[in-house]
Amino acid sequence: MPYFQKSISASYEYERRVKEEMPSPHVPREVARLVFSHAEGPYLFDLDGNQYIDLDNGKGAVLLGHNDPDVRHSLMEHLEMKRTVATGRNDIIRQLATKISQDVGEDIAVAFFRTGTSAVRAATHLARLWTGKPLLLSAGYHGWDPMWQLNSDLFEPNTCGVINFYFIPELLQELLSRYKDQVAAIVISPDHVYLDDNYFRQLFEECHRWPGVLIIDDQVKQGYRYKPGSSLSNYGLQADITVFSKALSNGSDLSCVCGNRTIMDMARHFVYTSYFDILPITAALTTLEKLTRINAQEYIKKTANGFLHQFRCLLKDSSLPIEIAGDGNLFRLVFATNELEAAFYAEAVINGIIFHEWDNQCPSAALTPEVYGVLLKRLQCTLEVILRDFAYLRGTPISDEARWRAAWNQMDGFSNLNLPLDLRLNFIKQCIIEEIDQYPIRSF
Ligand SMILES: Cc1ncc(COP(=O)(O)O)c(C=O)c1O
Repeated sequence: MPYFQKSISASYEYERRVKEEMPSPHVPREVARLVFSHAEGPYLFDLDGNQYIDLDNGKGAVLLGHNDPDVRHSLMEHLEMKRTVATGRNDIIRQLATKISQDVGEDIAVAFFRTGTSAVRAATHLARLWTGKPLLLSAGYHGWDPMWQLNSDLFEPNTCGVINFYFIPELLQELLSRYKDQVAAIVISPDHVYLDDNYFRQLFEECHRWPGVLIIDDQVKQGYRYKPGSSLSNYGLQADITVFSKALSNGSDLSCVCGNRTIMDMARHFVYTSYFDILPITAALTTLEKLTRINAQEYIKKTANGFLHQFRCLLKDSSLPIEIAGDGNLFRLVFATNELEAAFYAEAVINGIIFHEWDNQCPSAALTPEVYGVLLKRLQCTLEVILRDFAYLRGTPISDEARWRAAWNQMDGFSNLNLPLDLRLNFIKQCIIEEIDQYPIRSF
């Protein structure tokens, strides 16, 4: 029996009432029409009682599933036992720091922050203090902060001393030799849908050719998603400084910076307002212990890979130009046209599925084979409707540019390293122009 969203009148009514009162946070277009009342495991519920299967999961922050019973229990117990002591340390912080440092490497110290943006910014500050050098070479998204503003000149630092190399190895080499004595660190947000182990091994080798240049591994999105700790440890790689956030605490606001004790010592005395708020720390400790106990990353990969196999068969049968990049831990839907992409996500919502529109999908451990079975039926209904409107696209190939753009939206860089360098650079320049048009550069 197909599932349909019945009415979303309560969401509309809510929208009408609050419109004048508060700015809406950025949420994708279709999901923006909904107001959620509660969530459980793989499901979200809106004000009208419609149930949705969630593949967005808080942009990847919810790895165990919504309102996980163990995390909820530890938070309630924490409050009832009056364990929040804002003035000083609590042993739960030490336990969490020990767990994370064991997942990262030997002799590692950990400092906690609230958001991914603030933790990555702190990591770059540490690198600059430690090396005494001003420049950062960056690839990937690191948060909403003026320091990451794009620059139209590919070879010049922006006003905050940051140059983006967009994952292009030749650009990185050129920048390292041009600015050799001024580079404090390379900051990368690894992507495992488009870049393989070889890419990261070579990137580390290149950086190690330049003594004194640190590597910052921004694992805000990937950390704990593929395995406990950094996704790069799968390849035997360890950066000088590693940052975690999203999957740490199943949706609570927590991030951290990890590095060797001598580097981290410089952050020792910077402890402010909410540093000792034990709620997110408690959520994280329970989350990380449970992830290990249920071997969550392997479970997600296995079950989601089974689902993706069947989803690919549905897409093939439909002959629609939609493909899937990546695997069960994190994947991306790629569409031949923007119109098809927008229509697919809109129809999916009507059929009770929430995707992270125009970006990657992040399955949680709450998606069981039974839930995937229901999800596949809802996807089948979605595709039937899409086929009616887009039958003329059947059999159309997906262009390379559509693939690069899908990757660009996900990783803020260029994905296909086999192409000639000038083609890659031209594409990047085009994307920078479009982005600067949308968010003009300002000097402060
Ligand atoms: C790799 C990466 N770094 C940093 C951030 C910024 O994190 P936040 O939005 O919590 O500040 C994000 C957010 O998506 C991210 O994906």
